[in-house]
Amino acid sequence: MPSYYFEPPYLIVNFKTYSPEGVGKKAYELAKILEKAANEYGVTIIPVPANIDLTKIIEEINLPIFAQHADPFEQGSYTGFQPIMPLKEIGVTGTLLNHSEHPIGFTKLEKTLDLLNREKIMACVCAASPLLSKAAASLEPWAVAMEPPELIGGDVSVTTQPEIVKETVRLVDEVTKETLVLCGAGVKTDEHVKGALDLGTLGVLLASGVVKAANQEEVVQKMAKAMVEWKEKNN
Ligand code: G3P
Repeated sequence: MPSYYFEPPYLIVNFKTYSPEGVGKKAYELAKILEKAANEYGVTIIPVPANIDLTKIIEEINLPIFAQHADPFEQGSYTGFQPIMPLKEIGVTGTLLNHSEHPIGFTKLEKTLDLLNREKIMACVCAASPLLSKAAASLEPWAVAMEPPELIGGDVSVTTQPEIVKETVRLVDEVTKETLVLCGAGVKTDEHVKGALDLGTLGVLLASGVVKAANQEEVVQKMAKAMVEWKEKNN
């Protein structure tokens, strides 16, 4: 049993490569804010630091840490790539795959998932639409995160389009009961987090709403509180 929380709902915070807010010393400070909120509220928060910060954050932060990407190779002569065995070696819990900013296509996705499953590394596969979420879910990753690319990084939350979020939940559920549904893009407030959960997802994948917030801690604390309220209502 890990000493951190790993039960729904999930708040996955992608640091991307926002600089200076999301890298180096700032990445560590943000991860500390996430760790504090997870412990205070008893909720699952997953930092997704940039590749350059993964090792330090894994060593210093007691939360499940995901990578932003993994390549479908084991290890070896792959300059600039992120193969599976080094990720395993440094202790990642999981990884994002096929993010809109790093699409890999179905064949590579399948191969990468095979290797990740073998090494027991979790995968959150990003998909740009309900139908693509269904296709990704057919491979039974840990989670699928539906993110309309046009809303990523903007001020309009995916939850303002409830029909596509509900459709994603329905389509994935048709294919498998094993894969969780998350959503993301434009998620910036506790109300958006609550909205995503009320639409039937088990959490959100977000970035700018936290990483680029004027007061990161305040935003994270409010989101964690919304998660607790959802848990209380649904238990
Ligand atoms: O990985 C999360 C991301 O693509 C959504 O970004 O800034 O809209 O929360 P953002």
